[in-house]
Amino acid sequence: MLSDFSSTPKRDRIIVALDCSADRARALGDQLTGHARWVKVGMTLFYACGPEIVAYFKERGFKVFLDLKLHDIPFQVKGAAASAARTGADMLTMHASGGEAMLAAGREGAQETAKETGRDPLITLGITVLTSMDEPTLRSVGVERTPRDQVALLAGVAKESGISGVVASPQEASLLRDILGPQAYIVTPGVRPAGSSADDQSRIATPAEAFDNGASHIVVGRPITQAPDPVAAFENIAQSVRS
Ligand code: C5P
Repeated sequence: MLSDFSSTPKRDRIIVALDCSADRARALGDQLTGHARWVKVGMTLFYACGPEIVAYFKERGFKVFLDLKLHDIPFQVKGAAASAARTGADMLTMHASGGEAMLAAGREGAQETAKETGRDPLITLGITVLTSMDEPTLRSVGVERTPRDQVALLAGVAKESGISGVVASPQEASLLRDILGPQAYIVTPGVRPAGSSADDQSRIATPAEAFDNGASHIVVGRPITQAPDPVAAFENIAQSVRS
């Protein structure tokens, strides 16, 4: 599924990563209601709370990015994507290295649930190369290409499978925009407002740079969730990307 995200204001394309305890995630959700449009629920939170945590944010009007990074045989991934879509989540990740058939199966599972529920189909994203996988680590698992070449190859696999887009670092966003075309979702973590701590992120860009490089959506976690005033931190970022 491709999108017409360009008509959505950039502030509504900032995804707040809630990598924290369930209590803290709920409290942040309450604070950010009416400000942020999207939250990201990762494996830690989802395995602790299950579908209930998605329902919590949906009830408060958020869109939910369920970052579960699926990777299994196509039959299993189809079922997992169908189940993930039934939670009400809006966006789901799968490892592109699982291959074209696996990604297509995830897309089909999401579409089946959309037909069943009448809701918009889940946006399906491929993870290309994790930023934790540097060149030596890739070689150690048998991949001889540079990370950038491997990202480009896997983006091609994602495109062929018909899924909605990919997750990538802001540095790779422009390369991916060229490969995937204007309507693909390109979601970039590794985003830091000018002057804020990089934490453990190494290849970072500011929110405005990430969008300029071709990101459709940006993921920002700790600069918002660990700020003394998360709402002010979110609003500062929203202000910095105002077009
Ligand atoms: O706190 P921070 O802004 O660094 O959070 C970034 C989020 O994006 C985290 O949930 C992290 O797991 C995720 N992510 C990432 N780099 C990737 C893929 C996902 O930082 N390559």
